[in-house]
Amino acid sequence: MTIAEMVPECKFVCDIGTDHAYLPIYLLENNICQKAVVVEVKEGPLKAAYNNISKKNLQDCVEAILGDGIKALEKSLYLKEGKDDYTIIIAGMGGNLIIKILSEGLDFAKEAKTIILQPMSKLEVVYEWLAKHGFDIIDESLVKDGNKFYNVLAVKWSGIEKPCKPIDLYVGKKLVEKRDPLLGEYINWKISVLNKIIIGLKKSIDCNGQKINEKEDTLNKLISIKNEMVDILKLLSK
Ligand SMILES: C[S@@+](CC[C@H](N)C(=O)[O-])C[C@H]1O[C@@H](n2cnc3c(N)ncnc32)[C@H](O)[C@@H]1O
Repeated sequence: MTIAEMVPECKFVCDIGTDHAYLPIYLLENNICQKAVVVEVKEGPLKAAYNNISKKNLQDCVEAILGDGIKALEKSLYLKEGKDDYTIIIAGMGGNLIIKILSEGLDFAKEAKTIILQPMSKLEVVYEWLAKHGFDIIDESLVKDGNKFYNVLAVKWSGIEKPCKPIDLYVGKKLVEKRDPLLGEYINWKISVLNKIIIGLKKSIDCNGQKINEKEDTLNKLISIKNEMVDILKLLSK
C-alpha cells in the first residue's frame, strides 16, 4: 500500500520483477495507471502473474514480458506508443540487484516520470548510486512489519550529481525533512545496530595489532555518524 500511494497517476506502470503482479493489479483497479507492463526474469512467476491478471479480467491492459530488468522494456509495444508518461517500480529486491537493473536500463530510467524503489538490503549502496548518477529522491517513507523496517523511495532523474555525506547513507534526508512518523523508532534501531558494530570494532582494535589505523578510522567515522543520529533524535523531540 505504501508503494501504491507513492505512484503518481500515469499512463503506464512498469513493474520490474512483478512476481504475483498484486501491485499492478491494485494500481489498475484503482485507476492510478491506465496500463501496466509487467516484467519477470523467470517463467513461473510470469505465468502466476498472468493468471492473477486474467482472474481480474485485466489482460487487455497488461503487457507481460519475460526478460531481464528495465532493459526488457525495449520489447514493450505500450512504451513505443507513449514513452513520456510511465512509472517504473522495482520492489522486493536487494539493493545491489536494484542498482544493476537501473544501470543496465539507464535510458528508460532517465525518462521515467517517477521510479519507485523498495530495496530489501544495502540501502546505503542505493542512496550512493542514486546521488552519483543524478537521481533525486523526491519522497521516501518507512514501513514497519514485525521487527523489520522497509524504506520506499520515489526518485526522478535530474542529471545533477549530488554530494553525499556519510549520514545521508544511514538516514534518508527526505525522512528527516518530512519527519516520517516512524523516524524516531527507526533511528533508535539504527543506533542500536551501530553500537554493536562499534563495540565489536573496539574489541578487535584492543586485541589485534594489525590494521589498527584503518579500524580506528572506521570506528571514528561510525561514532560521528551515531552522534549525528542522536542530534536528529534531539531535533525530532523539539
Ligand atoms: C521477492 S520478489 C518481489 C515481487 C514484487 N516486486 C514485490 O515486491 O512483492 C522478486 C521478483 O523479482 C524477480 N526478478 C529478479 N531479478 C529480476 C530481473 N533482473 N528482472 C526481472 N525480474 C527479476 C524474481 O524472479 C522475483 O519474482
